[in-house]
Amino acid sequence: MPVDKNLALSGVIGDPIAHSKSPIIHNFWLRKNNLNCFYVPIKVSKGELEKKIICLKELGFSGVNVTIPHKVDAFNLANEVTEEAKRVGAANTLYFENNLIIGDNTDSFGFKHSILRNFPFYNFKKEKVLIFGAGGASRAVLSTCLKEKAKEIRLINRNKQKAQKLKEKFSESLIIFDWEDFSSALNGATTIINTTSLGNLGCDTFPFDLKGINKNAKGIDLVYNPIQTSFMKKAKRENIKCINGLDMLIYQAIPGFKRWFNKKPVYSKELLELLVKSLEKS
Ligand code: ATR
Repeated sequence: MPVDKNLALSGVIGDPIAHSKSPIIHNFWLRKNNLNCFYVPIKVSKGELEKKIICLKELGFSGVNVTIPHKVDAFNLANEVTEEAKRVGAANTLYFENNLIIGDNTDSFGFKHSILRNFPFYNFKKEKVLIFGAGGASRAVLSTCLKEKAKEIRLINRNKQKAQKLKEKFSESLIIFDWEDFSSALNGATTIINTTSLGNLGCDTFPFDLKGINKNAKGIDLVYNPIQTSFMKKAKRENIKCINGLDMLIYQAIPGFKRWFNKKPVYSKELLELLVKSLEKS
């Protein structure tokens, strides 16, 4: 069904979905751009994905964001996938166009732009990057670091086998460390990135002390709830600048909004504050 971009529909599908921050972001941009369009959260349980996607397509949706637990299934369901989705092996954004489902992954875009916003002179080529975690989020971060030709990429994960698999998939140049050998991994690193769920509300806190870290190192946590994460607190103790995952959350939403609603949204402090307020309330 051809979609009038002025009346476009989109949303986010997942389970659970009530706490998703995506509706706040997209509805903020819709208001700012005076667009008479809608973005809604839709609960879709595991096993229902295909049926619901077809239904949304039929209803005239322009596409959707995809969150837990559907990112890999959405990638497999898509008729076409972008290069980035292929690299990550998961889709967090779908476009319904010309009767096709196109799968994209915008986490790498979000990650890169959140770094550039917070560290304006950041140059991947000069950085020795240490990544904690080997799950879905780690793949997007790895993909960016490789594309931007980081000087060195180190990977450390509780389950070392998962890190080894990423090395096989992405690049022989990755240096894998044992979880117990954290201090060797940290030694000389100039960027440290937490892609694990450690520090998320309801999860264990980030366990390592960052003592001995390079004094000019930069910290990036993908966790944003709570706003002051345990990883950030550890970094603060060592006087390291460290950001949470809120800016990445905002930036990863840009490509979908642009393509569904035909308008390029802009990052704004007002939106960031809105998200912070909603997290403080929850
Ligand atoms: P996401 O898509 O958000 O990356 P994921 O694919 O489930 O989620 O990955 C979760 C990451 O957090 C993994 O790297 C996981 O480590 P394991 O591969 O060893 O499971 C990491 N993680 C979760 N809980 C952890 C904990 N208590 N200690 C250490 N690492 C943990």
